[in-house]
Amino acid sequence: MPSALQVLNASGTRHAAGAFARDVIRGLSRNPKSLPSKYFYDAEGSRLFQRITELDEYYLTRCEAEILETHAAEIVAAVLPGPLRLVELGAGDGQKTEILVRRLLDTGLRFEYVPIDICRQSVFDLAASFHCRFDGSLRVRGIVAEYFHGLASLGRASRRPSFVLYLGSSVGNFSHAEARQFFRRLRESLRPGDFVLVGFDLKKDLEILRRAYNDAEGVTRLFNLNLLERINRELSGEFDRGRFAHYGPYNLREACMESWLVSLENQEVPIHALGRSFSFRAWEGIHVECSHKYDLSQIESFASAAGFRVQKHFFDRRRWFADSLWQNV
Ligand SMILES: C[S@@+](CC[C@H](N)C(=O)[O-])C[C@H]1O[C@@H](n2cnc3c(N)ncnc32)[C@H](O)[C@@H]1O
Repeated sequence: MPSALQVLNASGTRHAAGAFARDVIRGLSRNPKSLPSKYFYDAEGSRLFQRITELDEYYLTRCEAEILETHAAEIVAAVLPGPLRLVELGAGDGQKTEILVRRLLDTGLRFEYVPIDICRQSVFDLAASFHCRFDGSLRVRGIVAEYFHGLASLGRASRRPSFVLYLGSSVGNFSHAEARQFFRRLRESLRPGDFVLVGFDLKKDLEILRRAYNDAEGVTRLFNLNLLERINRELSGEFDRGRFAHYGPYNLREACMESWLVSLENQEVPIHALGRSFSFRAWEGIHVECSHKYDLSQIESFASAAGFRVQKHFFDRRRWFADSLWQNV
């Protein structure tokens, strides 16, 4: 297969600026205020997330890398003789994916790698780096898009046997109802026999969780505050990040780490591109992220409710994280 690098903007990002403006108005008009976590990931947000993955406290990336290093051969054996297409949803920097790509190539399989991510910079950097690293043996087609716009842009007619990766426990940002709907839509966009590998962060000691989302260096704080900076940059907002604090408690009822930005005083923040201002009372919060934690019965119920068969769960040695391999039956 000739080497190729292609980066596409799928429909759905074309009106991204308008959607961002609408979601900011909607979110900041709610009680409690909230902003969708997908907007963390502009170029700066993705750079900060990459720093988070290197923090001692942030065990998730290391656990999942350990799972892939340890079990790549078994995962690859399970999905052979395919796939002709390796699709990755929310690929980010693709650091862990490289482990699987190498193992798939070692089997002599030639396939196309399709990272889909909402962050333009991440897709460009990842596509360029994989193109260089695997030159001659891997076709890379990066797609800048929301998950399902990206999948739809692959086209029904040209659907090929696929292996879809959804790593990093990104699913944890969805509510359980949203996650169910996500997996149902994912299955509908696949062919019978296709595989998916989904990363889930597991329930564990609450202090380990607290530290992972409240690191000593304060990178998570900067990552969250970048959302306000992004509103300043793209919508001419006047947020002063010194007037907001990061707060990351564990919600036991929902089994999720929550991220909030908390206003430290009464303040009025103009967002000029929206032609309006938003009032914040002292200690009022903006909810910016949930990171759900799971147990195996929940993972299995997601799979079966969507029509997938669980092939196997793969764990790191401490069983802090699971990569679950499912097949569309
Ligand atoms: C938590 S990071 C995980 C990155 C990588 N998969 C990993 O495991 O390290 C989430 C990634 O998903 C992307 N993302 C978030 N929401 C998205 C959406 N709705 N559609 C496409 N990509 C999205 C972000 O840009 C980011 O790169």
